[in-house]
Amino acid sequence: MTNNRTRAQLFGAIAMDYSRLRPGPPAAALDWLVGIDCETVVELGAGTGLATRQLAKVVSEVCAVEPDERMLEAFIVDSTSVSLRQGSAEDIPVADGSVDGVYAFDAWHWVDLSRAVPEVARVLRPDGQFGVAWTTIDTTLPLWAEFWSVIDGAHEGDQQPGRFTLPEGAPFAKPEGYTLSWVRPMLLEDLVSLLCTYSPVLAMEPAERAGYRRRQRDFLKQHSLVQGNDLVDVPYRTVCWRTRRRNAPFLRVFD
Ligand SMILES: C[S@@+](CC[C@H](N)C(=O)[O-])C[C@H]1O[C@@H](n2cnc3c(N)ncnc32)[C@H](O)[C@@H]1O
Repeated sequence: MTNNRTRAQLFGAIAMDYSRLRPGPPAAALDWLVGIDCETVVELGAGTGLATRQLAKVVSEVCAVEPDERMLEAFIVDSTSVSLRQGSAEDIPVADGSVDGVYAFDAWHWVDLSRAVPEVARVLRPDGQFGVAWTTIDTTLPLWAEFWSVIDGAHEGDQQPGRFTLPEGAPFAKPEGYTLSWVRPMLLEDLVSLLCTYSPVLAMEPAERAGYRRRQRDFLKQHSLVQGNDLVDVPYRTVCWRTRRRNAPFLRVFD
């Protein structure tokens, strides 16, 4: 199971674990990403609503868009300002020029860039904001690089989480980047289970996954920085990118 599109559909099978174990983006990331002129926004790949809940605190209206029915079923957001719609980054279910902002959290690496970038441009009003972010374990320390190596190696080129490139001629301003570092205390068992919410581990056969889990647990338990602690301070980072829709007219690309 190596195809990007197939792998993008693996999360639905573990939607509840996903919701329990993954962190949402920190509030400071939303503060940086969402301009004060953004009131009506679309969130692409909303998943179970981890980032939607944060977005709903800083804007008046969120249209959360998600392709996977099982993620839609697990989507929990207790806010009247959020509407949920089935759709994708390549086919956003809102009208041309109708929103102030489009955001994607831990989802932009799954999209077909050649179709999604024109689609984001289509739905944004002139000067509307486009922001993407990825929240993941910071692998600067060797302990975390080793623990996270299977996940870090899963994507290549422009489709790597944290990387944001726009095709030449795309109707957007030059993107600005910002990285936040923070710490997340986690139970060791949850940390091992967290691995199983990422696509390369989800794609393993059950026996392979069980062996991988066991090895990763043993590795952590034996490491001097973790030894004897059930609660582990996990270094995290959130990589954010933002840009603005240029005012120049844009012709929709049909394929
Ligand atoms: C890693 S999850 C991130 C979910 C959520 N944004 C979060 O922060 O927890 C990636 C999500 O992107 C969705 N996805 C996959 N392909 C997509 C596409 N082409 N357009 C929009 N969303 C997509 C998946 O179904 C999944 O819910």
